[in-house]
Amino acid sequence: MRIDLISIFPEFFDALDLSLIGRAQQDGLLDIRRHQLRDYTADKHRTVDSPPVAGGAGMVMKPEPWALALDEVLAADGAAERPTLIVPTPSGEVLTQQAAQDLSGHQHLVFAPGRFEGIDERVAEWAAERFDVRRMSIGDYVLNGGEAAVIVMVEAVTRLIPGVIGNADSLAEESHADGLLEYPVYTKPAEWRGRAVPEVLLSGDHAKIAAWRREQSEARTQQVRPDLWESRTDLWHN
Ligand code: ADE
Repeated sequence: MRIDLISIFPEFFDALDLSLIGRAQQDGLLDIRRHQLRDYTADKHRTVDSPPVAGGAGMVMKPEPWALALDEVLAADGAAERPTLIVPTPSGEVLTQQAAQDLSGHQHLVFAPGRFEGIDERVAEWAAERFDVRRMSIGDYVLNGGEAAVIVMVEAVTRLIPGVIGNADSLAEESHADGLLEYPVYTKPAEWRGRAVPEVLLSGDHAKIAAWRREQSEARTQQVRPDLWESRTDLWHN
């Protein structure tokens, strides 16, 4: 998968060189390219923002640097399909495991994280003629800019690409894989500071262990995320 990240803080994405995503880049599974938005300005101060038309708080990102950066990304696009442009914003569709799964099958993702009050709306309109544009949020809270959200999205999406995670079984068992939260896990020693590992886990009875884990997942989901639990029961009724 090819990923382009355009930002006034491209260094933010250095974290993607670590751990499994860093390894996936070295292995050629991922081609992540960073771009400094200010490189696409023409003035001495490399200006990317300007006051909102008709007034209002803060500053808005100017459209032209974004268009020039996106033009360059498009010119280097080798994929057969239209690239997907993701614009992180708290007013977008919320990233879910399902959305991450869907995005993990794409060949080319481009992320356009804005700062200030956001990007001039015409950029998304112009881009929609060239990209599949998705405005996406990582949750109902506000960040200072979209870069931290991009890291979350890239991590959630790329770990689902075959080969990025060594043990594919861990994907099937983790939280949200089947609409439930993950069951509690333990390691050695069997007793630690007066607390024992649940006995069933030491029984060697695989069917019993699977049933216990399922019960724990269901109980946890009902308690902590009644919204998730309800949407599962909706599925059963339809
Ligand atoms: N930019 C600011 N807040 C955000 C959020 N919650 N999700 C995505 N991008 C954002």
